[in-house]
Amino acid sequence: MNVLVSGGTGFIGSHTVVELMAGGHNVIIFDNFYNSKRDVLDKIYRISGRRPVFYECDMRDEDALRRIFVENDIDAVIHFAGYKAVYESVEKPLMYYENNLGGTFVLLRLMKEFGVSRLIFSSSATVYGIPEHCPVKEDAPLYCLNPYGRTKLMIEDILRDVAAADSSFSVVLLRYFNPVGAHPSGLLREDPNGIPNNLMPRVIQAAKGQIPRLSVFGDDYDTRDGTCIRDYIHVVDLAKGHVAALDYVADSTGAVAVNLGTGNGYTVLELINTFMNVNHVNVPYEIVGRREGDSPSVYADAALAKELFGWEAKLTLEDMVRDALRGAEADG
Ligand code: UFG
Repeated sequence: MNVLVSGGTGFIGSHTVVELMAGGHNVIIFDNFYNSKRDVLDKIYRISGRRPVFYECDMRDEDALRRIFVENDIDAVIHFAGYKAVYESVEKPLMYYENNLGGTFVLLRLMKEFGVSRLIFSSSATVYGIPEHCPVKEDAPLYCLNPYGRTKLMIEDILRDVAAADSSFSVVLLRYFNPVGAHPSGLLREDPNGIPNNLMPRVIQAAKGQIPRLSVFGDDYDTRDGTCIRDYIHVVDLAKGHVAALDYVADSTGAVAVNLGTGNGYTVLELINTFMNVNHVNVPYEIVGRREGDSPSVYADAALAKELFGWEAKLTLEDMVRDALRGAEADG
């Protein structure tokens, strides 16, 4: 298929582009490098031996996006582009709603105009809020605790409405759990602009001495060691989940939400200890107070992805921590 990938130079987008090309698809990327770097394109080439078609543009620029649809015979869209920092979304909600929703509207209008009916959307387990039960299934109640999460849930709702109104439309809403790790080549990695907030980039900073110590947010939760439990998933497994979902949207109609997780939960301290043991490095840390809005435990029921796509995560926490550090070291 000719697959248009919005945000294809970002962390999950770039890994997915590599797996799409390995799966024989032609890839057309657009990105405005808001939270990624141009050299990712060269790195994709070094890994794949192929260069995706690339357009530098903002997804709200309808004329620029129309040109992409005119110049390429698009079969399906994978929509990653969007702002994603939880804290920033609380400070700048309008910026998040305008960009994430506005860009999606432009994309959907053009898909309709050009008769493109297959879409995979980059959603998040954040739509489960603080889940009552784990493992969390796709039919669990949905609500969000911040504007970033609400943009994901609103877009999910919009896409469900679009699919209900147009019987030819096929959309998969992929709810990611906690993507970590990096491509085993060491070439692609999570490279957020600004100060990272997520656990793995902070662990790496502490391991490399870039911050004096990692703050662990709370050890008084009702979990096995008191720290929060998350379902960390290797980004290469996650990327392969998109290729599997693409085969599914090609032969289905309607909208379906599917978890992409491993089904295993690890505590913050388990992740830190695994990182230290596998990589033979010290990660200085201290326990501090809880972070507002954190859920004690979030891990997936991953059965639906296996049932619908024949996909399941294969890589272990050891693979994740090893590849995460290798990616960070390759870039110094
Ligand atoms: N944590 C720390 N110290 C840090 C950073 C995080 O202890 O410096 C802890 C958090 O308290 C949490 C765990 O590590 O218990 C994971 O935190 P992350 O910020 O890495 O991830 P979250 O689970 O909070 O959120 C992530 C993404 C969201 C996404 C959500 C889906 O950031 O975009 O998963 O569950 F929506």
